[in-house]
Amino acid sequence: MSLAQIGAVLDILLEWEKGTAESMLELPPNSELGDAAFPCFALAKSLRKAPQQIASDLAERFELEGTEATAAGPYLNFRLDRSLHSAALLVQAEGQAVAPKGETVVIDMSSPNIAKPFGVGHLRSTVIGAALYRMYAEAGYHAISVNHLGDWGTQFGKQITAYKRWGSEERLKAAPIRESLSLYVRFHDEAESDPTLETEARDWFRRLESGDAEALGLWRYFVDVSLSEFDRMYERLGVSFDKVLGESFYNDKMGAVVDELRAEGLLEESEGAQVVRLDEADMPPCLILKSDGTTIYPTRDLATAIYRHDVLEADKLLYVVGAEQTLHFRQVFAVLHKMGRDWASACRHIPFGLMKFEGKKMSTRKGKVVFLEEVLDEAVARAAAIIEEKNPQLQNRDAVAEAIGIGAIVFGDLKNNRIGEINFSIEEAVQFEGETGPYVQYTHARARSVLRKAKAEGIEVNEGTADLGMLKREAASYEWDEASWELLKRLCDHQTELHRGIQRHEPSTIARYALDLAKLFNRFYHHNKVLSAAAGDKEIRLELTRLAAERLRWALNLLGVRSPEEI
Ligand code: ARG
Repeated sequence: MSLAQIGAVLDILLEWEKGTAESMLELPPNSELGDAAFPCFALAKSLRKAPQQIASDLAERFELEGTEATAAGPYLNFRLDRSLHSAALLVQAEGQAVAPKGETVVIDMSSPNIAKPFGVGHLRSTVIGAALYRMYAEAGYHAISVNHLGDWGTQFGKQITAYKRWGSEERLKAAPIRESLSLYVRFHDEAESDPTLETEARDWFRRLESGDAEALGLWRYFVDVSLSEFDRMYERLGVSFDKVLGESFYNDKMGAVVDELRAEGLLEESEGAQVVRLDEADMPPCLILKSDGTTIYPTRDLATAIYRHDVLEADKLLYVVGAEQTLHFRQVFAVLHKMGRDWASACRHIPFGLMKFEGKKMSTRKGKVVFLEEVLDEAVARAAAIIEEKNPQLQNRDAVAEAIGIGAIVFGDLKNNRIGEINFSIEEAVQFEGETGPYVQYTHARARSVLRKAKAEGIEVNEGTADLGMLKREAASYEWDEASWELLKRLCDHQTELHRGIQRHEPSTIARYALDLAKLFNRFYHHNKVLSAAAGDKEIRLELTRLAAERLRWALNLLGVRSPEEI
């Protein structure tokens, strides 16, 4: 909407800097109250007038073609002339190609640990990271997604020990994560009474770190079988990565980091280990080398950040990782600062809260785990049952059930503010009513079916390329009822919502927008005949239907949710 124009006139009247008033404009909850409102409370002090007086003074002086300003108490309300503005809004709703920004954003996402179950934290990191990735790309940034696999560390010594003692290749191949997990659990159980296991595990890890062929071969094998299982999940979630660079990739890059820290006198000994003190930042020291000289997680993240900045040429480095790692990232970024890497301020941890399934946590240690694959399968089975009941005739039923089930999980995650805790109910998420992915998918399919019917009846439907001239003339004479007008206005907000979502790193902005559009479209469709409307009205309503379908698909696509044509 032309809030910018309204703001510009207010700036002139108030002798303000350009752009000031626009940011203060509010959108009333419905058009009956007007299309925009300007609250005058904050001006009372500097103008030494009552807000009511300010509003009525401004109302008298405000002049903008097709825009009526009226004072309502302390507010200045604006009402747009619908027939005059609608044509421009139709164009704005369509959107346009964005120019490349030339800024590179590297997004650390998913990053599960090899030989361990893909946890719910990794699921959240995957779907939030992938949504942010698509949002940045849509806004013209050069986005690079990186899967920072947890593929190195002492646990591989344990894994090799357990595999050599009790493992079987056959079982590992058939169900890599389950088998790895049971080996891991058995190792910990037996190690309680048999201390030689820990020694053996340390020995294997040492062999691994020194490049021993047998150790490396087994490690590579564990990585490969785990990855093939993860890849199956990524495919179902519709996620891929520009780079898969696990922690092991930085093995030969950490020496330089440690040398630099030492040369700059930043390393200090503490109980046999080497640390960087962060007292001035009020944080515990960052551990760099363990007492046996091996490197650890933070050391690898230092090398990783430097690689992303220097080699991948990142201007911005995002880490989509659970909130429990907040201190870790603050420490890593603080050490980078101490190393004189000013770009450390371009590093940003994007934390998110815990998610439970029906009150159950996914945890590795106790062996009480909910596997992601089971969660996805359950959602898909529920979607299939609903389709079976509502539309047994549907073609491609399996593919649609998969799209709905997975979409329900992804959307059910992304509609929440990322930082809050979520108690996820699969049953609720798969419903076709309420604030769910399937509700949005269903609304999209509904709009598409109207367009298909129009085509079948030989009505010409604008494909986004048609000459808008005729539509513009019809828009000017269309009787803009509340429902049509509200839908049109909201359709115009896509770029604002996209940028707001990027600024806050909140995919929920897009999910909420999709829900709003779906509600507004359904209301519009309930109040207005489309295919049987009079000539003139029919074209405008079909255009609104087309725009709604396009924009819903756009939003779902940003979130990583498929939009089937028919449900
Ligand atoms: N693999 C880690 C974990 O599961 C997450 C890694 C996050 N990324 C990073 N650069 N540290 O806890």
